[in-house]
Amino acid sequence: MPNGRWLPPTIVTQDSFIIIAIDGGAAAGKSSTSRGLSKRFGLMHVDTGSYYRATTLKLIESGVSPERGSDLEAGLAALKLGTEIHGNQATITINDWLPDNSIRSQLVNDQVSHFAALPELRSYLLDYQRSQADVARKNGFNGLVMEGRDIGSVIFPDADLRLFLHADPEKRAERRAKEGIQDSIQKRDKIDSTRKTAPFQCPIGATFLDTSELDLQEVIDKASDFVRETLSE
Ligand code: CDP
Repeated sequence: MPNGRWLPPTIVTQDSFIIIAIDGGAAAGKSSTSRGLSKRFGLMHVDTGSYYRATTLKLIESGVSPERGSDLEAGLAALKLGTEIHGNQATITINDWLPDNSIRSQLVNDQVSHFAALPELRSYLLDYQRSQADVARKNGFNGLVMEGRDIGSVIFPDADLRLFLHADPEKRAERRAKEGIQDSIQKRDKIDSTRKTAPFQCPIGATFLDTSELDLQEVIDKASDFVRETLSE
């Protein structure tokens, strides 16, 4: 065997289209893990946090505040959603705008959980999120890996694999600081987990993975083991 880790070839076929739901708190490693799995297993990767971030920014720009429900309806009616695929990543477009780094600004970090708590916004995004499974099928992917806060509980409760990534708050704060991002992750977690609609929680029956003491490669390897187990069931 050559130096380095041996990885079995991708074993998924078109017949076994799989849906993987990954939930977890801010900076728990969802995006990196989902990206890693998408490449390893030929899946389409969807980051639903970016949906909430992008709609938050667009709604703020059109003068909507999370406290005033009346403007919200008109604000949402003015949004036309689309999807662009780049490599394994499917990205939302809003009125033909492809979200950029502005959705990771401090303004959005501060506001997104307040918007994400609005039932109207959540139900507005629900069908769009579910429709991404068909987008993945039509574009020849072996499956879909979707990350967020309510994927295993609300969006795809019947997903083939539901993973919940946990990491200690101190570790998560450390990770964000290393990325040079100012983010109130504990505040967001609190708002997300105490909201009435689709609260952030570990779904019953989901596979719980504590990533506090693991590096990224170890997390992707462990998650890959769960995917292989799912495929062999
Ligand atoms: O990357 P990070 O984990 O910090 O957050 P994110 O995944 O980009 O999500 C940003 C925010 O969107 C979260 O704090 C939630 O308020 C909201 N969100 C949600 O409510 N439901 C989802 N499925 C995904 C994100």
